[in-house]
Amino acid sequence: MHQNYLQSFFNKFPIIVLDNVRLRDLRLSDSENYLKLMQDPRVNEFLSDEDIPKNAMESLNEVRFWSGLFYKKISVFWAIADLSSDELIGSVGYNSWNFYNRRAEICYDLMPEYWGKGIMTKILSTLLEIAFKAMQINRIEAKCMMHNHTSQYLLKKMKFKDEGVLRQYRIIRGKPTDIMYYSLLKEDYNVLQQ
Ligand SMILES: CC(C)(COP(=O)(O)OP(=O)(O)OC[C@H]1O[C@@H](n2cnc3c(N)ncnc32)[C@H](O)[C@@H]1OP(=O)(O)O)[C@@H](O)C(=O)NCCC(=O)NCCS
Repeated sequence: MHQNYLQSFFNKFPIIVLDNVRLRDLRLSDSENYLKLMQDPRVNEFLSDEDIPKNAMESLNEVRFWSGLFYKKISVFWAIADLSSDELIGSVGYNSWNFYNRRAEICYDLMPEYWGKGIMTKILSTLLEIAFKAMQINRIEAKCMMHNHTSQYLLKKMKFKDEGVLRQYRIIRGKPTDIMYYSLLKEDYNVLQQ
């Protein structure tokens, strides 16, 4: 943790307000809604079994894990909260951040009631900027299932490049399953900002 930018990034959790959502740190009290989000079949259709908590205790443990990333200075993960109720309606974050190689993987999920309103487009635009600037990341990666057309569309809209298929990368519902791999480089992003 010798680099100054890391010290200043981990100094204070970055709370971000965007239209009608607030990106804030995950709290243990979010675990009920987190379980609801992860157990919704419209959402977990696109998730690996290992990421889906099966009960309240597993959900609490996952929330504890994700929220701990920032305080342990490992990475950053946000709750997406409804601005008026402050209730968790989704989650987003960099689930792995490799400081040395300056790369991180982004992942995101939103409750279906909030889909199609441009919420994730706005969130990703903001979090990409944070990654390339405050976090000094050079490469952002994303993985998604072959049939997750919405997520793939979203990544392409954000100018992520398709790097191909990771063959039988995950065991999903007991079956070795191919996964699409995407990345966005800082240089691609900088060109777009000019
Ligand atoms: C992926 C997800 C986060 C998108 O969130 P969202 O807030 O609804 O996304 P947005 O409204 O910002 O944008 C969705 C875009 O996809 C488009 N879209 C929706 N369904 C689509 C489909 N089946 N095929 C192609 N594009 C689709 C929308 O038209 C919109 O594009 P536009 O802005 O050009 O009109 C949300 O659908 C979700 O949580 N899905 C389940 C979990 C998941 O897939 N997580 C990601 C795992 S990799």
